Amino acid sequence: MIKIAPSILAADPLNLERDVRRAEEAGADWLHIDVMDAHFVPNLAYGPEVVKHLRKTVRMPLDVHLMMDHPSVLLDAFLDAGADVVTIHAEIDEPVPELLKYIRERGAKAGLALKPATGLEGVTAWMAQADLMLAMTVEPGFGGQHLEPEVIAKIRQIRDSGYAGYIEADGGIREDNLQTLIDNGLTVAVMGTALFGHPEMKAEIRRLHKMEGVPCRDA
Ligand code: DX5
Ligand code: ZN
Repeated sequence: MIKIAPSILAADPLNLERDVRRAEEAGADWLHIDVMDAHFVPNLAYGPEVVKHLRKTVRMPLDVHLMMDHPSVLLDAFLDAGADVVTIHAEIDEPVPELLKYIRERGAKAGLALKPATGLEGVTAWMAQADLMLAMTVEPGFGGQHLEPEVIAKIRQIRDSGYAGYIEADGGIREDNLQTLIDNGLTVAVMGTALFGHPEMKAEIRRLHKMEGVPCRDA
C-alpha cells in the first residue's frame, strides 16, 4: 500500500501541533519535515528543535528532507532529535556515500534526493547506500508548485533498475496524478498542499491508500 507522507511545509506554522495530530489521526503513514538552509534552496524552514518536539507529539516515522548544502553540520542534531529517515541531496558538495553510511550507522534510514534535472547516471553507485530514493517532482524550495511530469520516467527508471528500497516523490502530488506515479513504481508520496489544504483529510487519505500499483505495461 502506498505510504502517504504529509509535508509540514504546508501546515499552519502557528498551529503545527494541531495539524500534525490531524494528519496522524487521518491515517497518514510518515510525517515529512522539510529543512531548508536558504542556500541550497532560496527558502528557510524548520530545524532540529522542531523535530525533537514533533518526536514527542506523533508516533509516525519522521521523514526529514535536508535541503541543505552542508547537511553534515546538523546531521547529528537531526538524528539525536529522533529523525527516522534522513534524506540528503545528491547535488551537494559533501561526500554523499559517507554521509549515507553514517546515517545508517546511527540507526536511521538513509535517503538520497535528486532534483528534477539530476539524472540517475551519476548516482547509481550511491543507491546501494540508500534505503530511500527521493525523486523531487518539483524544483525544491517551495510547496504548491505543479508536478514536473518528466520526472515520472525517472521514477520508473529507479524501479526498473531493481532498486529494492523506498521510492519517494515530493512536490505537486495530488489525487489526480498519484495513480500514474504508483503505476511507475512510487511507494512513498509526499503531499503538502493537497492534504493540509483538504477539508476532509481522513477521507482523502483513505482514497489515496486504495490506489494500488498495476503491473507496468512495458512500453
Ligand atoms: C518542496 C518540498 C515539498 C513540498 C511539498 O521543496 O520538498 O515537500 O513541501 O509540496 P506540495 O505542497 O506541492 O505537496
Ligand atoms: Zn520535501
